[in-house]
Amino acid sequence: MKVPFYRPSITEREIEQVVACLRSGWLTTGPVTREFEAELARYVGAKHAVALNSCTAALHLALDAIGLQRGDLVLVPTMTFAATAEVVRYFDATPVFVDCDPVTQCIDVSAARTVLERIRAGDRVAGVTQPHGRVRAIIPMHYAGQMVDVDAVSALAAEYDLVVIEDAAHTLPAFTRSNTSAPWRAVGTTAAITCFSFYANKCITTGEGGMAVTDDDALADRMRLMSLHGMSKDAWKRYTSAGSWYYEVVAPGFKYNLTDVASAIGRVQLERANELWEARRATVARYHELLEGVPGLELPREHADRRHSWHLFSIRLDLGVWHAGRDAFIAGLKERGIGASVHWMPLHMQPYYRETYGFAAEDFPVAASLWPRLVTLPLFPGMTPEDVRTVADAIREMARD
Ligand SMILES: Cc1ncc(COP(=O)(O)O)c(C=O)c1O
Repeated sequence: MKVPFYRPSITEREIEQVVACLRSGWLTTGPVTREFEAELARYVGAKHAVALNSCTAALHLALDAIGLQRGDLVLVPTMTFAATAEVVRYFDATPVFVDCDPVTQCIDVSAARTVLERIRAGDRVAGVTQPHGRVRAIIPMHYAGQMVDVDAVSALAAEYDLVVIEDAAHTLPAFTRSNTSAPWRAVGTTAAITCFSFYANKCITTGEGGMAVTDDDALADRMRLMSLHGMSKDAWKRYTSAGSWYYEVVAPGFKYNLTDVASAIGRVQLERANELWEARRATVARYHELLEGVPGLELPREHADRRHSWHLFSIRLDLGVWHAGRDAFIAGLKERGIGASVHWMPLHMQPYYRETYGFAAEDFPVAASLWPRLVTLPLFPGMTPEDVRTVADAIREMARD
């Protein structure tokens, strides 16, 4: 591969900290993880952060903490990764899919409103069968790292008494403001619970990992408890001089804790978060410069009231120009030694959801018509100007073919 889809940015500092952790004799959740949590909470400006072994675990614990019940409904974008919806199914509750905005590809809040109105009126809504429980929550996802319209989501949530749980797997850091004269607000401060991912290709990484942040003491306590077998507080200390051998199991919890080895990587990555962000932003600026004017490409844009994290650079093909289609475009990149991906086939078109809920592709027409046009180009902090030129030259060459 001349330019891989992704390459993580790991320096000697991450390596040193992992080695120090290994030498310390404490490998699992412990003091390094507690530091990482405190630092991440400070970085985003939230009161609590609970370190977990994935964003999926964070979303699961968030739904547990709000008391989601079997049969309840949760609004979820169809244009998202499997995790956002599967966690609803863990409770035998129903993910109610919502179409996406044609530009941002985040959940379309006006479509969400229509869905809620129809549910309230008892009208038919794709994928929702009677009888059903309450609509409890909405899980907006910040597509590619650009925040959803959080004001519109909060207004809707207030009107319909929904808890907002943000899927911020792509988004660290990112900011939003209500208008050009309003203050910037950081991701992690705009929802009841915000869930981050530290998977290998994310904005910051621990290999695998995640974090749930909240300002709410009770939600934080419940997530912390359930992250480690439902064992009474600070069970992780039980083998240290600070702890005691005694613990109580007060709920049937999960094994979702993040290890100190992973947190050692995470602490350094968090210190480097702004530097990594700058590097991704510079790459995006180069992409814009080199791809502007190529026929049949729609490039992602940063909204004036957002600071994009630029986790992904997802472009859209005009299939009237790129007659051979998206798959041929990605194959053409591969032949030229360039990795690419697609984010995503909408969930309502995936076999499990299609067969379980009887969806047709056109139930969510915006997402369905976007998906054959989507290509995610390589974007990672160590990408050089030459790498970007290699990708752009390949695309320009394919445009001429
Ligand atoms: C939008 C979204 N949500 C959730 C996840 C799950 O993250 P994790 O792999 O940390 O569980 C991902 C992972 O790629 C994602 O893209």
